[in-house]
Amino acid sequence: IEIININVSLSCVTLGGHTIGTSACQFFSYRLYNYSNTGAPDPAIDPAFLPQLQSLCPQNGDGSKRIALDTGSVGKFDTSFFTNLGNGRGILESDQKLWTDASTKTYVQRYLGLRGLLGLAFDVEFGKAMVKMGNIELKTGTNGEIRKVCSKIN
Ligand code: HEM
Ligand SMILES: *[C@@H]1O[C@H](CO)[C@@H](O)[C@H](O)[C@H]1NC(C)=O
Repeated sequence: IEIININVSLSCVTLGGHTIGTSACQFFSYRLYNYSNTGAPDPAIDPAFLPQLQSLCPQNGDGSKRIALDTGSVGKFDTSFFTNLGNGRGILESDQKLWTDASTKTYVQRYLGLRGLLGLAFDVEFGKAMVKMGNIELKTGTNGEIRKVCSKIN
């Protein structure tokens, strides 16, 4: 997981990604079989990786089955997530787009140290981003709640 605030033309964009954790097949299997109703897989997926994903998430299989968002490094807070994106091995479409979209690709490259002095230290930037994001529209008292399940209001 990763959040970075980037200033674009004076507005703020969140670059989010997933270096730990898993996702259920139901949230990305459309990429493996019938992407955007093309009848074919998402061309952004590495052709060597596609059959592996298809065997983990068979068509009309168990949609609740979970697989790693950062292949090969599911429990480690590291930069291999970004390497995977560069190799067409992002699981969620929103993650893979960080590489295929020119406006965010530069940042992914900087975490990989491909930009020399412009390189960013992922662990340092992550800490800064957490503080920034934590200060955005912070809800206090009865205006908000800490969710027991991330995707559901308590
Ligand atoms: C563009 C922003 C983001 C999108 C679209 C997104 C979307 C998702 C989706 C679809 C899943 C899989 C859920 C499931 O299968 O149940 C997921 C998992 C996860 N997300 Fe995000 N996410 C974003 C940013 C973030 C950020 C900023 C964080 C935390 C700093 C985060 C933390 C996590 C974690 C820890 C998991 C794994 C949960 C588990 O292992 O059960 N995500 N995200
Ligand atoms: C892909 O999805 C579209 C829309 O649901 C459908 O019309 C089409 O037949 C599907 N193609 C394949 C190959 O499954």
